[in-house]
Amino acid sequence: MSENINPEFWSAVKEFSKKLSMEDDFLVVSHHDADGISSCAITVGLLRYLGKKVEYMCIKQLDSITIGKVREKDGKCVVFTDFGSGQLPIIEANGLKDFFIIDHHPPEREHDRQINPHPFGYDGGLDISGAGMAYLVAKSLGFESMAHIAVVGAVGDMQDSDGKLHSINRIILEDGVRHGVIKFKNDLRLFGRQSRPLVHMLTYSSEPVLPGLTGNPAGVSQFLESLGIELKNNDKSWKTYVDLTWEERKKITSALYMHLLDSNTPEFIIQGMVGEVYSLVKEEKKSELRDAKEFATVLNACGRQEHPHLGVEVCLGDRGEFWTHARSILERHRKMLRDGIDYLGSNGVESMDNLYYFDAGGRINESIIGVIAGMAYGARIIPPDKPVLAFAKDKDYPNLTKVSARANWSLVRRGIHLGKALKEECKKIGGEGGGHDIAAGARIPKEKRDEFLNAVNALFGEQLKGATQPSSRKS
Ligand code: C5P
Ligand code: C5P
Ligand code: ZN
Repeated sequence: MSENINPEFWSAVKEFSKKLSMEDDFLVVSHHDADGISSCAITVGLLRYLGKKVEYMCIKQLDSITIGKVREKDGKCVVFTDFGSGQLPIIEANGLKDFFIIDHHPPEREHDRQINPHPFGYDGGLDISGAGMAYLVAKSLGFESMAHIAVVGAVGDMQDSDGKLHSINRIILEDGVRHGVIKFKNDLRLFGRQSRPLVHMLTYSSEPVLPGLTGNPAGVSQFLESLGIELKNNDKSWKTYVDLTWEERKKITSALYMHLLDSNTPEFIIQGMVGEVYSLVKEEKKSELRDAKEFATVLNACGRQEHPHLGVEVCLGDRGEFWTHARSILERHRKMLRDGIDYLGSNGVESMDNLYYFDAGGRINESIIGVIAGMAYGARIIPPDKPVLAFAKDKDYPNLTKVSARANWSLVRRGIHLGKALKEECKKIGGEGGGHDIAAGARIPKEKRDEFLNAVNALFGEQLKGATQPSSRKS
Protein backbone atom coordinates (compact mmCIF):
# COMPACT_ATOMS: atom_id res chain seq x y z
CA MET A 1 0.00 0.00 0.00
CA SER A 2 1.45 3.33 -0.88
CA GLU A 3 1.16 6.04 1.73
CA ASN A 4 0.38 9.69 1.21
CA ILE A 5 2.43 12.72 2.10
CA ASN A 6 1.25 14.44 5.27
CA PRO A 7 -1.10 17.17 3.89
CA GLU A 8 0.39 19.88 6.09
CA PHE A 9 3.85 19.05 4.79
CA TRP A 10 2.65 19.11 1.20
CA SER A 11 0.97 22.52 1.75
CA ALA A 12 4.22 23.82 3.22
CA VAL A 13 6.12 22.54 0.16
CA LYS A 14 3.67 24.31 -2.17
CA GLU A 15 3.85 27.54 -0.25
CA PHE A 16 7.66 27.39 -0.28
CA SER A 17 7.69 26.66 -4.03
CA LYS A 18 5.43 29.60 -4.73
CA LYS A 19 7.87 31.98 -3.05
CA LEU A 20 10.82 30.38 -4.82
CA SER A 21 9.22 30.72 -8.24
CA MET A 22 8.82 34.47 -7.81
CA GLU A 23 12.58 35.04 -8.09
CA ASP A 24 14.45 35.10 -11.42
CA ASP A 25 18.22 34.88 -11.07
CA PHE A 26 19.50 31.94 -8.99
CA LEU A 27 22.65 30.43 -7.55
CA VAL A 28 22.16 26.85 -6.31
CA VAL A 29 24.68 25.96 -3.59
CA SER A 30 24.84 22.33 -2.58
CA HIS A 31 26.82 19.71 -0.69
CA HIS A 32 29.40 17.79 -2.77
CA ASP A 33 28.31 14.22 -1.95
CA ALA A 34 25.97 12.03 -4.03
CA ASP A 35 22.83 13.36 -2.40
CA GLY A 36 24.05 16.96 -2.60
CA ILE A 37 24.88 16.64 -6.30
CA SER A 38 21.51 15.00 -7.00
CA SER A 39 19.74 17.77 -5.04
CA CYS A 40 21.62 20.38 -7.01
CA ALA A 41 20.81 18.77 -10.37
CA ILE A 42 17.09 18.48 -9.63
CA THR A 43 16.95 22.09 -8.49
CA VAL A 44 18.89 23.32 -11.54
CA GLY A 45 16.63 21.17 -13.76
CA LEU A 46 13.55 22.69 -12.17
CA LEU A 47 14.76 26.28 -12.43
CA ARG A 48 15.67 25.82 -16.09
CA TYR A 49 12.26 24.28 -16.71
CA LEU A 50 10.75 27.40 -15.18
CA GLY A 51 12.86 29.53 -17.55
CA LYS A 52 15.01 31.06 -14.82
CA LYS A 53 18.63 32.09 -14.95
CA VAL A 54 20.68 29.64 -12.88
CA GLU A 55 24.27 28.93 -11.86
CA TYR A 56 25.38 26.33 -9.35
CA MET A 57 28.25 25.27 -7.11
CA CYS A 58 28.76 22.17 -4.94
CA ILE A 59 31.05 22.52 -1.95
CA LYS A 60 32.52 20.34 0.77
CA GLN A 61 30.82 22.19 3.58
CA LEU A 62 28.94 25.33 4.37
CA ASP A 63 30.80 27.28 7.03
CA SER A 64 31.79 30.81 7.92
CA ILE A 65 34.57 30.71 5.29
CA THR A 66 32.80 29.10 2.32
CA ILE A 67 29.81 31.36 2.79
CA GLY A 68 32.15 34.16 1.64
CA LYS A 69 32.33 32.54 -1.82
CA VAL A 70 28.58 32.49 -1.96
CA ARG A 71 28.39 36.16 -1.05
CA GLU A 72 30.70 37.05 -3.93
CA LYS A 73 27.81 36.19 -6.26
CA ASP A 74 25.97 39.21 -4.97
CA GLY A 75 22.58 39.92 -6.48
CA LYS A 76 21.57 36.30 -7.03
CA CYS A 77 18.96 34.49 -5.05
CA VAL A 78 20.79 31.63 -3.32
CA VAL A 79 19.14 28.22 -2.96
CA PHE A 80 20.96 25.97 -0.48
CA THR A 81 20.26 22.28 -1.02
CA ASP A 82 21.21 19.28 1.16
CA PHE A 83 22.57 21.64 3.77
CA GLY A 84 21.62 25.00 5.23
CA SER A 85 19.16 23.94 7.93
CA GLY A 86 21.99 23.27 10.38
CA GLN A 87 23.85 26.38 9.21
CA LEU A 88 21.05 28.95 9.38
CA PRO A 89 22.86 30.93 12.10
CA ILE A 90 26.00 31.10 9.89
CA ILE A 91 23.96 32.16 6.84
CA GLU A 92 22.26 34.93 8.76
CA ALA A 93 25.35 36.05 10.66
CA ASN A 94 27.02 36.61 7.29
CA GLY A 95 24.32 38.95 6.19
CA LEU A 96 22.83 36.80 3.42
CA LYS A 97 19.24 37.92 2.91
CA ASP A 98 17.99 36.60 -0.40
CA PHE A 99 18.10 32.84 0.13
CA PHE A 100 16.08 29.62 0.33
CA ILE A 101 16.94 26.34 2.07
CA ILE A 102 15.85 22.91 0.78
CA ASP A 103 17.28 20.42 3.28
CA HIS A 104 16.71 17.20 5.23
CA HIS A 105 19.19 17.66 8.08
CA PRO A 106 17.79 18.40 11.55
CA PRO A 107 16.99 22.14 11.45
CA GLU A 108 18.29 24.69 13.96
CA ARG A 109 14.87 26.36 13.88
CA GLU A 110 12.00 27.14 11.55
CA HIS A 111 12.32 29.82 8.86
CA ASP A 112 9.82 31.02 6.28
CA ARG A 113 12.27 30.39 3.41
CA GLN A 114 13.25 26.90 4.50
CA ILE A 115 11.59 23.59 3.65
CA ASN A 116 12.56 20.67 5.87
CA PRO A 117 10.74 17.41 6.69
CA HIS A 118 11.56 17.25 10.43
CA PRO A 119 8.89 19.67 11.75
CA PHE A 120 6.28 17.47 10.03
CA GLY A 121 7.34 14.31 11.85
CA TYR A 122 9.56 12.86 9.13
CA ASP A 123 13.05 11.58 9.75
CA GLY A 124 15.49 13.20 7.32
CA GLY A 125 17.96 10.37 7.88
CA LEU A 126 15.59 7.71 6.59
CA ASP A 127 12.33 8.99 5.11
CA ILE A 128 13.66 11.52 2.61
CA SER A 129 16.98 12.78 1.27
CA GLY A 130 18.07 16.23 0.15
CA ALA A 131 17.38 15.18 -3.44
CA GLY A 132 13.94 13.95 -2.35
CA MET A 133 13.21 17.38 -0.88
CA ALA A 134 14.32 19.06 -4.11
CA TYR A 135 12.11 16.63 -6.04
CA LEU A 136 9.06 17.50 -3.90
CA VAL A 137 9.61 21.20 -4.58
CA ALA A 138 9.98 20.42 -8.30
CA LYS A 139 6.90 18.19 -8.29
CA SER A 140 4.78 20.89 -6.66
CA LEU A 141 5.73 23.13 -9.61
CA GLY A 142 4.85 20.50 -12.22
CA PHE A 143 8.38 19.17 -12.88
CA GLU A 144 8.33 15.43 -12.17
CA SER A 145 10.82 14.05 -14.65
CA MET A 146 13.76 13.60 -12.24
CA ALA A 147 12.32 11.14 -9.69
CA HIS A 148 15.09 8.67 -10.54
CA ILE A 149 17.72 11.21 -9.48
CA ALA A 150 15.90 11.64 -6.16
CA VAL A 151 16.17 7.86 -5.70
CA VAL A 152 19.90 8.05 -6.50
CA GLY A 153 20.26 10.76 -3.82
CA ALA A 154 18.44 8.66 -1.21
CA VAL A 155 20.53 5.58 -2.03
CA GLY A 156 23.68 7.77 -1.92
CA ASP A 157 22.76 8.76 1.65
CA MET A 158 22.19 5.03 2.35
CA GLN A 159 18.54 5.53 3.20
CA ASP A 160 17.88 2.03 1.81
CA SER A 161 20.49 0.41 4.03
CA ASP A 162 17.93 -1.70 5.92
CA GLY A 163 16.80 -3.29 2.65
CA LYS A 164 14.47 -0.80 1.00
CA LEU A 165 13.33 2.82 0.76
CA HIS A 166 10.63 4.04 3.15
CA SER A 167 7.98 6.70 3.55
CA ILE A 168 8.34 9.70 1.19
CA ASN A 169 11.28 8.03 -0.53
CA ARG A 170 8.82 5.29 -1.53
CA ILE A 171 6.29 7.76 -2.84
CA ILE A 172 9.02 9.27 -5.01
CA LEU A 173 10.10 5.80 -6.14
CA GLU A 174 6.53 5.08 -7.20
CA ASP A 175 6.43 8.37 -9.13
CA GLY A 176 9.54 7.20 -10.96
CA VAL A 177 7.98 3.83 -11.74
CA ARG A 178 4.83 5.58 -13.04
CA HIS A 179 6.92 7.84 -15.25
CA GLY A 180 8.78 4.81 -16.60
CA VAL A 181 12.24 5.94 -15.43
CA ILE A 182 12.89 3.39 -12.68
CA LYS A 183 12.14 -0.20 -11.71
CA PHE A 184 12.81 -2.07 -8.49
CA LYS A 185 12.98 -5.65 -7.27
CA ASN A 186 14.59 -7.78 -4.57
CA ASP A 187 17.99 -9.11 -5.53
CA LEU A 188 21.61 -9.44 -4.45
CA ARG A 189 22.88 -5.98 -3.59
CA LEU A 190 26.58 -6.21 -4.24
CA PHE A 191 28.19 -3.21 -5.84
CA GLY A 192 28.72 -3.45 -9.59
CA ARG A 193 25.80 -5.72 -10.45
CA GLN A 194 25.33 -3.91 -13.76
CA SER A 195 28.77 -2.85 -14.83
CA ARG A 196 31.41 -5.12 -13.27
CA PRO A 197 32.47 -8.53 -14.54
CA LEU A 198 31.12 -11.10 -12.06
CA VAL A 199 34.61 -11.99 -10.91
CA HIS A 200 35.36 -8.33 -10.14
CA MET A 201 32.04 -7.79 -8.41
CA LEU A 202 32.92 -10.49 -5.87
CA THR A 203 36.68 -9.82 -5.72
CA TYR A 204 36.15 -6.13 -4.97
CA SER A 205 33.19 -6.53 -2.63
CA SER A 206 33.83 -4.43 0.47
CA GLU A 207 30.24 -4.03 1.64
CA PRO A 208 30.26 -6.72 2.84
CA VAL A 209 33.73 -8.19 2.71
CA LEU A 210 33.35 -11.83 1.60
CA PRO A 211 35.93 -13.82 3.59
CA GLY A 212 38.17 -15.83 1.28
CA LEU A 213 36.66 -14.19 -1.81
CA THR A 214 37.25 -10.44 -1.45
CA GLY A 215 40.76 -9.77 -2.73
CA ASN A 216 41.12 -13.32 -4.09
CA PRO A 217 40.21 -13.56 -7.82
CA ALA A 218 41.33 -17.21 -8.03
CA GLY A 219 39.08 -18.09 -5.08
CA VAL A 220 36.19 -16.25 -6.74
CA SER A 221 36.63 -18.10 -10.04
CA GLN A 222 36.70 -21.38 -8.19
CA PHE A 223 33.61 -20.43 -6.17
CA LEU A 224 31.69 -19.59 -9.36
CA GLU A 225 32.86 -22.68 -11.19
CA SER A 226 31.81 -24.89 -8.28
CA LEU A 227 28.31 -23.47 -8.81
CA GLY A 228 28.48 -24.29 -12.50
CA ILE A 229 28.43 -20.64 -13.55
CA GLU A 230 30.26 -19.68 -16.73
CA LEU A 231 32.43 -16.56 -16.34
CA LYS A 232 32.02 -15.46 -19.97
CA ASN A 233 29.13 -14.94 -22.35
CA ASN A 234 28.94 -16.76 -25.70
CA ASP A 235 30.54 -13.75 -27.40
CA LYS A 236 33.53 -14.13 -24.98
CA SER A 237 32.70 -10.90 -23.12
CA TRP A 238 32.83 -11.12 -19.30
CA LYS A 239 29.49 -11.88 -17.70
CA THR A 240 28.15 -9.34 -15.26
CA TYR A 241 25.59 -10.23 -12.59
CA VAL A 242 22.69 -8.96 -14.71
CA ASP A 243 23.66 -11.39 -17.50
CA LEU A 244 22.76 -14.31 -15.23
CA THR A 245 19.45 -16.16 -15.25
CA TRP A 246 17.24 -16.07 -12.16
CA GLU A 247 18.30 -19.61 -11.34
CA GLU A 248 21.96 -18.66 -11.43
CA ARG A 249 21.33 -15.54 -9.36
CA LYS A 250 19.54 -17.61 -6.73
CA LYS A 251 22.40 -20.10 -6.68
CA ILE A 252 25.02 -17.39 -6.08
CA THR A 253 22.91 -15.65 -3.45
CA SER A 254 22.30 -18.75 -1.36
CA ALA A 255 25.90 -19.88 -1.71
CA LEU A 256 27.11 -16.47 -0.48
CA TYR A 257 24.60 -16.61 2.34
CA MET A 258 25.92 -19.97 3.51
CA HIS A 259 29.48 -18.82 3.02
CA LEU A 260 28.98 -15.78 5.27
CA LEU A 261 27.13 -17.81 7.89
CA ASP A 262 29.99 -20.30 7.96
CA SER A 263 32.47 -17.50 8.50
CA ASN A 264 30.45 -16.03 11.40
CA THR A 265 29.55 -12.79 9.66
CA PRO A 266 27.08 -10.79 11.80
CA GLU A 267 23.45 -11.38 10.86
CA PHE A 268 22.72 -7.73 9.96
CA ILE A 269 25.51 -7.69 7.40
CA ILE A 270 24.24 -10.90 5.77
CA GLN A 271 20.67 -9.58 5.71
CA GLY A 272 21.82 -6.34 4.11
CA MET A 273 23.27 -8.25 1.19
CA VAL A 274 19.83 -8.94 -0.27
CA GLY A 275 17.23 -6.25 -0.68
CA GLU A 276 15.72 -3.83 -3.13
CA VAL A 277 17.76 -2.82 -6.15
CA TYR A 278 16.78 0.15 -8.27
CA SER A 279 17.34 0.15 -12.03
CA LEU A 280 17.24 3.32 -14.09
CA VAL A 281 15.58 1.81 -17.11
CA LYS A 282 16.32 4.63 -19.55
CA GLU A 283 20.06 4.08 -19.09
CA GLU A 284 21.99 1.65 -21.23
CA LYS A 285 22.09 -1.90 -19.87
CA LYS A 286 25.31 -2.63 -17.98
CA SER A 287 26.21 1.04 -17.68
CA GLU A 288 27.22 2.32 -14.21
CA LEU A 289 24.23 4.65 -14.46
CA ARG A 290 21.71 1.83 -14.81
CA ASP A 291 21.93 0.90 -11.09
CA ALA A 292 21.05 3.56 -8.49
CA LYS A 293 23.85 2.54 -6.13
CA GLU A 294 26.47 2.59 -8.87
CA PHE A 295 25.10 5.92 -10.11
CA ALA A 296 25.40 7.32 -6.58
CA THR A 297 28.99 6.14 -6.40
CA VAL A 298 29.77 7.93 -9.66
CA LEU A 299 28.40 11.13 -8.11
CA ASN A 300 30.26 10.60 -4.85
CA ALA A 301 33.45 10.07 -6.82
CA CYS A 302 32.96 13.31 -8.78
CA GLY A 303 32.22 15.32 -5.63
CA ARG A 304 34.87 13.87 -3.41
CA GLN A 305 37.54 14.07 -6.15
CA GLU A 306 36.68 17.76 -6.54
CA HIS A 307 34.78 17.62 -9.85
CA PRO A 308 31.18 17.88 -8.63
CA HIS A 309 30.01 19.69 -11.79
CA LEU A 310 30.64 16.49 -13.80
CA GLY A 311 28.16 14.73 -11.56
CA VAL A 312 25.57 17.49 -11.89
CA GLU A 313 25.83 17.45 -15.69
CA VAL A 314 25.54 13.65 -15.79
CA CYS A 315 22.37 13.88 -13.65
CA LEU A 316 21.05 16.49 -16.05
CA GLY A 317 21.56 14.08 -18.94
CA ASP A 318 25.07 14.51 -20.33
CA ARG A 319 26.40 11.24 -21.75
CA GLY A 320 29.28 12.81 -23.70
CA GLU A 321 32.38 14.56 -22.47
CA PHE A 322 31.32 15.02 -18.83
CA TRP A 323 30.24 11.40 -18.52
CA THR A 324 33.52 10.11 -19.99
CA HIS A 325 35.48 12.22 -17.53
CA ALA A 326 33.25 11.15 -14.62
CA ARG A 327 33.91 7.48 -15.40
CA SER A 328 37.66 7.92 -15.19
CA ILE A 329 37.25 9.69 -11.87
CA LEU A 330 35.19 6.77 -10.59
CA GLU A 331 38.14 4.43 -11.12
CA ARG A 332 40.45 6.72 -9.17
CA HIS A 333 37.90 7.04 -6.39
CA ARG A 334 37.40 3.28 -6.08
CA LYS A 335 41.15 2.82 -5.85
CA MET A 336 41.35 5.44 -3.07
CA LEU A 337 38.60 3.63 -1.16
CA ARG A 338 40.40 0.30 -1.50
CA ASP A 339 43.66 1.85 -0.28
CA GLY A 340 41.83 3.49 2.64
CA ILE A 341 40.23 0.20 3.70
CA ASP A 342 43.60 -1.58 3.36
CA TYR A 343 45.22 1.08 5.54
CA LEU A 344 42.54 0.63 8.16
CA GLY A 345 42.71 -3.15 7.96
CA SER A 346 46.42 -3.15 8.68
CA ASN A 347 46.48 -0.34 11.25
CA GLY A 348 43.29 -1.21 13.13
CA VAL A 349 41.22 1.05 15.36
CA GLU A 350 41.36 2.12 19.00
CA SER A 351 38.57 1.20 21.35
CA MET A 352 36.97 3.25 24.15
CA ASP A 353 33.97 2.27 26.32
CA ASN A 354 31.38 3.59 23.90
CA LEU A 355 33.17 4.13 20.60
CA TYR A 356 35.89 3.05 18.21
CA TYR A 357 38.19 5.60 16.65
CA PHE A 358 41.11 5.95 14.30
CA ASP A 359 43.21 8.92 13.31
CA ALA A 360 44.44 8.66 9.73
CA GLY A 361 46.27 12.00 9.84
CA GLY A 362 47.23 12.78 6.26
CA ARG A 363 47.11 9.16 5.06
CA ILE A 364 43.43 9.11 4.14
CA ASN A 365 42.05 12.11 2.33
CA GLU A 366 39.52 13.96 4.47
CA SER A 367 37.00 13.89 1.63
CA ILE A 368 36.69 10.10 1.83
CA ILE A 369 37.33 9.55 5.53
CA GLY A 370 33.57 9.36 6.24
CA VAL A 371 33.03 6.81 3.47
CA ILE A 372 35.88 4.68 4.85
CA ALA A 373 34.50 4.92 8.40
CA GLY A 374 31.10 3.73 7.12
CA MET A 375 32.69 0.84 5.23
CA ALA A 376 34.57 -0.35 8.32
CA TYR A 377 31.53 -2.28 9.62
CA GLY A 378 30.92 -4.08 6.32
CA ALA A 379 34.64 -4.82 6.03
CA ARG A 380 34.46 -6.24 9.56
CA ILE A 381 37.37 -4.09 10.68
CA ILE A 382 35.16 -3.08 13.59
CA PRO A 383 32.29 -5.01 15.18
CA PRO A 384 28.86 -3.36 15.03
CA ASP A 385 28.56 -2.78 18.80
CA LYS A 386 29.79 0.84 19.00
CA PRO A 387 29.87 3.96 16.78
CA VAL A 388 33.09 4.84 14.99
CA LEU A 389 34.83 8.23 14.91
CA ALA A 390 37.43 8.90 12.22
CA PHE A 391 39.90 11.78 12.18
CA ALA A 392 41.85 13.16 9.24
CA LYS A 393 43.99 16.18 8.55
CA ASP A 394 41.98 19.14 7.34
CA LYS A 395 43.26 20.08 3.89
CA ASP A 396 42.34 23.74 4.04
CA TYR A 397 42.83 24.69 7.68
CA PRO A 398 46.04 23.28 9.24
CA ASN A 399 44.92 24.01 12.80
CA LEU A 400 41.72 21.99 12.37
CA THR A 401 40.95 18.27 12.28
CA LYS A 402 38.15 16.75 10.24
CA VAL A 403 35.93 14.28 12.11
CA SER A 404 33.49 11.81 10.56
CA ALA A 405 31.23 9.66 12.70
CA ARG A 406 29.21 6.64 11.57
CA ALA A 407 26.86 4.21 13.35
CA ASN A 408 24.37 1.55 12.27
CA TRP A 409 20.62 0.99 12.69
CA SER A 410 20.94 -1.17 15.75
CA LEU A 411 22.94 1.52 17.58
CA VAL A 412 20.49 4.21 16.54
CA ARG A 413 17.64 2.12 17.91
CA ARG A 414 19.52 1.85 21.19
CA GLY A 415 19.61 5.64 21.49
CA ILE A 416 22.72 6.77 19.62
CA HIS A 417 22.40 10.13 17.86
CA LEU A 418 25.78 11.08 16.39
CA GLY A 419 24.70 14.49 15.10
CA LYS A 420 23.44 15.64 18.52
CA ALA A 421 26.56 14.43 20.33
CA LEU A 422 28.97 16.07 17.88
CA LYS A 423 27.05 19.30 17.80
CA GLU A 424 26.85 19.54 21.59
CA GLU A 425 30.55 18.93 22.11
CA CYS A 426 31.57 21.25 19.26
CA LYS A 427 29.76 24.11 20.94
CA LYS A 428 31.99 23.59 23.99
CA ILE A 429 35.35 23.36 22.25
CA GLY A 430 34.85 25.84 19.43
CA GLY A 431 34.26 23.44 16.52
CA GLU A 432 31.49 23.12 13.95
CA GLY A 433 29.62 19.84 13.83
CA GLY A 434 26.30 18.11 13.39
CA GLY A 435 24.37 15.76 11.15
CA HIS A 436 22.04 12.78 11.33
CA ASP A 437 21.67 10.13 14.02
CA ILE A 438 23.50 7.55 11.89
CA ALA A 439 26.10 9.76 10.21
CA ALA A 440 27.61 13.05 11.33
CA GLY A 441 30.68 15.18 10.86
CA ALA A 442 32.66 17.98 12.45
CA ARG A 443 35.73 20.14 12.32
CA ILE A 444 37.53 20.72 15.61
CA PRO A 445 40.69 22.51 16.78
CA LYS A 446 43.53 20.02 16.34
CA GLU A 447 44.77 20.17 19.93
CA LYS A 448 41.30 19.36 21.28
CA ARG A 449 41.10 15.86 19.78
CA ASP A 450 41.49 13.90 23.02
CA GLU A 451 39.19 16.17 24.99
CA PHE A 452 36.64 15.75 22.19
CA LEU A 453 36.99 11.95 22.18
CA ASN A 454 36.51 11.67 25.94
CA ALA A 455 33.52 13.96 25.93
CA VAL A 456 31.81 12.25 22.96
CA ASN A 457 32.51 8.86 24.53
CA ALA A 458 30.70 10.08 27.67
CA LEU A 459 27.83 11.55 25.62
CA PHE A 460 27.31 8.23 23.81
CA GLY A 461 27.22 6.56 27.23
CA GLU A 462 24.42 8.91 28.29
CA GLN A 463 22.53 8.35 25.03
CA LEU A 464 22.72 4.58 25.51
CA LYS A 465 21.47 4.90 29.07
CA GLY A 466 18.43 6.70 27.69
CA ALA A 467 19.39 9.96 29.31
CA THR A 468 18.53 11.70 26.04
CA GLN A 469 15.47 11.33 23.84
CA PRO A 470 15.61 7.98 21.99
CA SER A 471 15.28 8.11 18.24
CA SER A 472 11.89 7.48 16.64
CA ARG A 473 13.46 5.27 13.99
CA LYS A 474 11.43 2.32 12.81
CA SER A 475 12.62 -1.14 13.68
O1 C5P B 1 25.04 15.26 4.07
P1 C5P B 1 24.23 14.07 3.83
O2 C5P B 1 22.99 13.95 4.59
O3 C5P B 1 23.93 14.01 2.37
O4 C5P B 1 25.13 12.80 4.09
C1 C5P B 1 24.73 11.66 4.77
C2 C5P B 1 25.94 10.79 4.91
O5 C5P B 1 25.62 9.73 5.77
C3 C5P B 1 26.38 10.16 3.60
O6 C5P B 1 27.76 10.30 3.47
C4 C5P B 1 25.97 8.70 3.78
O7 C5P B 1 26.76 7.85 3.05
C5 C5P B 1 26.10 8.51 5.27
N1 C5P B 1 25.32 7.41 5.82
C6 C5P B 1 25.97 6.28 6.28
N2 C5P B 1 25.26 5.20 6.74
C7 C5P B 1 23.92 5.22 6.75
C8 C5P B 1 23.24 6.37 6.33
C9 C5P B 1 23.98 7.47 5.87
O8 C5P B 1 27.17 6.24 6.25
N3 C5P B 1 23.27 4.13 7.16
O1 C5P C 1 31.44 14.88 6.62
P1 C5P C 1 30.70 13.61 6.73
O2 C5P C 1 30.43 12.92 5.44
O3 C5P C 1 31.26 12.68 7.74
O4 C5P C 1 29.28 14.06 7.29
C1 C5P C 1 28.26 13.16 7.65
C2 C5P C 1 26.95 13.89 7.79
O5 C5P C 1 27.03 14.92 8.76
C3 C5P C 1 26.51 14.57 6.52
O6 C5P C 1 25.11 14.44 6.47
C4 C5P C 1 26.92 16.00 6.74
O7 C5P C 1 26.20 16.88 5.98
C5 C5P C 1 26.64 16.17 8.22
N1 C5P C 1 27.40 17.26 8.82
C6 C5P C 1 26.73 18.34 9.41
N2 C5P C 1 27.43 19.37 9.97
C7 C5P C 1 28.78 19.36 9.96
C8 C5P C 1 29.48 18.29 9.37
C9 C5P C 1 28.76 17.24 8.80
O8 C5P C 1 25.50 18.37 9.42
N3 C5P C 1 29.43 20.40 10.50
ZN1 ZN D 1 21.78 14.39 2.20
